[in-house]
Amino acid sequence: MKTVHTIAEVREQVAAWRKAGERVALTPTMGNLHRGHLRLVEAGHAQAQRVVTSVFVNPLQFGLNEDFDRYPRTLDADAEQLVQAGCDLLFAPSVAEMYPHGREGFTVISVPRYAHILEGEFRPGHFDGVATVVNLLLNIVRPDVALFGEKDYQQLLVIRQMAADLHLPVDILGVPTEREVNGLALSSRNQYLSAEERKRASVLHQVLVQLAAELRAGARDFDPLCERGLSVLRDSGFRPQYLVVRRPDLQRADIADNEFRILLAAFLGNTRLIDNIPASA
Ligand code: PAJ
Repeated sequence: MKTVHTIAEVREQVAAWRKAGERVALTPTMGNLHRGHLRLVEAGHAQAQRVVTSVFVNPLQFGLNEDFDRYPRTLDADAEQLVQAGCDLLFAPSVAEMYPHGREGFTVISVPRYAHILEGEFRPGHFDGVATVVNLLLNIVRPDVALFGEKDYQQLLVIRQMAADLHLPVDILGVPTEREVNGLALSSRNQYLSAEERKRASVLHQVLVQLAAELRAGARDFDPLCERGLSVLRDSGFRPQYLVVRRPDLQRADIADNEFRILLAAFLGNTRLIDNIPASA
């Protein structure tokens, strides 16, 4: 695996692969890689001969009071894991390489359909930052396919919508969420949790699974169902921000629906965690 830090080097390498008739997959990340990220790389290899992974902690998608400065940066360990996973090229640009003229006045991509609901409501501007950097990465790498985790379900929909609206010549694929044995979704932010919190955080998945079971059994009183789940979260020491049952496209669910997505966000101590699962009748 080669590691490069400039756009010119990525373009050169990808052009050589293309010339040889090889398909290219892109897996964008912010690093501090875990098994969930590596699943994306493996899924990329099922789609293309070459997999490019980007590691870039994107300042544009962090709010003022969020964890941009303390976000874990572990490039050497990330590179080792990527070699094991069979990644072909690691692209780890600096902020100056990605935003050479600074953030002021920078072109921003916004996906209004999803920008202001759920995650977008609690993290204003977040998805503009995500869409903007993913659009840059897609333009830099020009992959045939790009892979994103269902862990960040709303992000996946934002990127799909952006790619469709902008006629980007790339397939956007979702990859199911990797979890700890106790159900906790793997996340770089889990390492902010104490050992005790890490155990307790399995309640998030339990609440989702319980709600999915109730939907499967025919329950359609969405608001009381979610209220009960929120109570369980509060009783377990979480400060939940939302717990909702939506359609798979995140529109409001109707009692006649049979396919759902259940999503939540909650603080445990100072750590903000999100998770979601599909549910069907
Ligand atoms: P990051 O949080 O590093 O996640 C990179 C990719 O890994 C995302 O597509 C995310 O959904 C996926 N992922 C994270 N945890 C996962 C898990 N437990 N199982 C499966 N996939 C998982 O998401 C971002 O970075 C950024 O917003 C980014 C898209 C790179 C733009 O900056």
